[in-house]
Amino acid sequence: MNELDSLVDTARAAFAEAKTPAELENAKAQFLGKSGRITELMKGMAALSVEEKKSRGAAINVAKQAIEAALTDRRQQLADDELSLQLRAEALDVSLPGRRRISGGLHPVSRTLERIEEIFSSMGFDVADGPEIESDWHSFTSLNNPPNHPARSMQDTFYVDLNGDDGIPYNLRPHTSPMQVRYAHQHIKKYAAEFAAAAADTTGTVKAPEIRVIAPGRTYRVDSDATHSPMFHQCEGLWLGENVSFKDLKVVFTDFCRTFFERDDLVLRFRPSFFPFTEPSAEIDIQFASGPLAGRWLEVSGSGQVHPNVVRNMGLDPERYIGFAFGMGPDRLTMLRYGVNDLRLFFDGDLRFLSQFQ
Ligand code: DAH
Repeated sequence: MNELDSLVDTARAAFAEAKTPAELENAKAQFLGKSGRITELMKGMAALSVEEKKSRGAAINVAKQAIEAALTDRRQQLADDELSLQLRAEALDVSLPGRRRISGGLHPVSRTLERIEEIFSSMGFDVADGPEIESDWHSFTSLNNPPNHPARSMQDTFYVDLNGDDGIPYNLRPHTSPMQVRYAHQHIKKYAAEFAAAAADTTGTVKAPEIRVIAPGRTYRVDSDATHSPMFHQCEGLWLGENVSFKDLKVVFTDFCRTFFERDDLVLRFRPSFFPFTEPSAEIDIQFASGPLAGRWLEVSGSGQVHPNVVRNMGLDPERYIGFAFGMGPDRLTMLRYGVNDLRLFFDGDLRFLSQFQ
């Protein structure tokens, strides 16, 4: 091996030894730098003849190019090494199971409430919301519920440790019916001009503004078994106008039930009953023509023609305003729709049950 070949070998070995780009640049200086080996060899040619210079110069050049090529290779290799080191440091273990995000969904009772709102909205009903901590007057007195009525007893109604203006404790509303009176008051305030115009009219041509609303929400009673929960849901309905009759109640409620259950063959029965705030009053029962519940009468709502005393407590003239109200149980509607037989399942928060409705 001649000295140039061994110089190339030495350079290769030095480059290979360099473990970092900085070390490599130092090694490069030894061979290709201003006072490096190649420069020295070039200088050493000064004494040679022109012929010798030619062949010696060419040979040195070949060696120089070989060293440069080795340098380039080593630079590339160091860069590659660094990249793969970095990649290894940032490696993802794709075999690790990920953290799964369970997707939620609407509670079956919420689905029912949305359905109820949708159906009644399509029939022109407003949807109203009201307080769950209610005054004695709104929950009972305004609804023609006499002071000795059993619904007022501690056995049925939750009371809170706070008295209202009348000195009587507030209650956790045992039904959504107080919303009838609350909504009427709000409505009269909002449409004061229209109500005043209708009241002042003697010609009988100015129509009094109608009240048409549903009020779904949570209600509370001291009660707990497979079909009763201390917290449950109700949806109140109210339609008052100058000529709203029991016939309208039948049409509206029949339409609602058939749409809700998607069953045109559903039959309704209005069974005489008693509520202090309606006269006459009726329980509404439904019957499916087919399916597991076929032939059974199932109670879904209380209803009736709004009692004149209640109309008066709303601030309206019972000689002018007449209409109906109803109070139904969305929990029960949900049980019937999905075939659930224990109401408490809705409020246990057990995902094995709830996820079946997604
Ligand atoms: N509030 C009654 C209850 O909780 C249900 C009810 C019956 C509501 C008749 C009404 C009605 O609006 O007219 O049992």
